[in-house]
This record gives sequence, C-alpha cells and structure tokens, in this order.
Amino acid sequence: MRRVITYGTFDLLHYGHINLLRRAKQLGDYLIVALSTDEFNWREKQKKCYFTYEERKQLLEAIRYVDLVIPEENWEQKCTDVKEYHVDTFVIGDDWTGKFDFLKEEGCEVVYLSRTPEISTTQIKKDLNKK
Ligand code: CTP
Repeated sequence: MRRVITYGTFDLLHYGHINLLRRAKQLGDYLIVALSTDEFNWREKQKKCYFTYEERKQLLEAIRYVDLVIPEENWEQKCTDVKEYHVDTFVIGDDWTGKFDFLKEEGCEVVYLSRTPEISTTQIKKDLNKK
C-alpha cells in the first residue's frame, strides 16, 4: 500500500483544496493530511483561522480522498512523520517548490502539484470584506 502525506491549513475549504487532495490521493492508496493547528498557524504563519482545528479536521475527514488527519504542530515534524507513518510520497502545492526536497533523504518521493489558479483562502477573505 502506497502512503501519501500532505500538509496545510485548509481553512474555508475551497475547490483548490479539493483539487489538491484528489490529485494527492491518486499518487497512492492512503492519504494522510497533516493539518496545521490553530497555535502553529498563529505562531508560525501569523494566520488566524476562521474555522477551528476541530472544525477543519471534521471537514477534511468528510472528504472521500482523505484517510487520516493528524496535527501539524511544528516545521520539524515532517521527517519523523515520514518514518512513523511509513510514507512513500510527500505532496504539496507548487507554492512550496523546492522547500521540502530534504525529505528525499528519508527515502520519500517529493511531489509539488500545480496550484489551482485564482482561488485561495486569503482571496476569499479579501473578496468577502469588499462586500
Ligand atoms: N492549494 C492549491 N490550489 C489553491 C490553493 C491551495 O493547490 N488554489 C494547495 C496548497 O498549495 C497546499 C494546500 O492546498 O498544498 C493547502 O493550502 P492552504 O495554504 O491551506 O490554502 P490557501 O488557499 O493557499 O490558503 P492561504 O490563502 O491562507 O495561503
């Protein structure tokens, strides 16, 4: 069984996220989403989520492509997650191209998928603020 992992915040879930998750699942048989906790988002990305971690987790768990949701609590955990969950493929959108190539040293394939154009959580928030 090929195991795939991806990381992200997935706040205000949108079709760009779904496209990413669908293509991630196609790379294997079992998809793990490491979901940024509220603390991690705030501390490391200065992002305040609209939905809480638990709410975002429930939404992801309802998606057919997602098999397991685990917390992303720091930048360093990727190497240990890859080992602990016997991950074959790490995947993320191409806004992160090159940033996680070091995971190849753990024997893991690293894939950057093209982002879906013209949609992001930040853009949704901006558009709603204009109304
Ligand atoms: N993603 C994507 N296409 C988009 C938006 C996001 O493929 N249009 C991917 C990202 O590259 C990442 C995952 O979805 O691999 C989760 O992205 P996240 O940062 O949570 O979503 P964004 O909409 O980019 O949120 P923000 O605007 O807050 O950065």
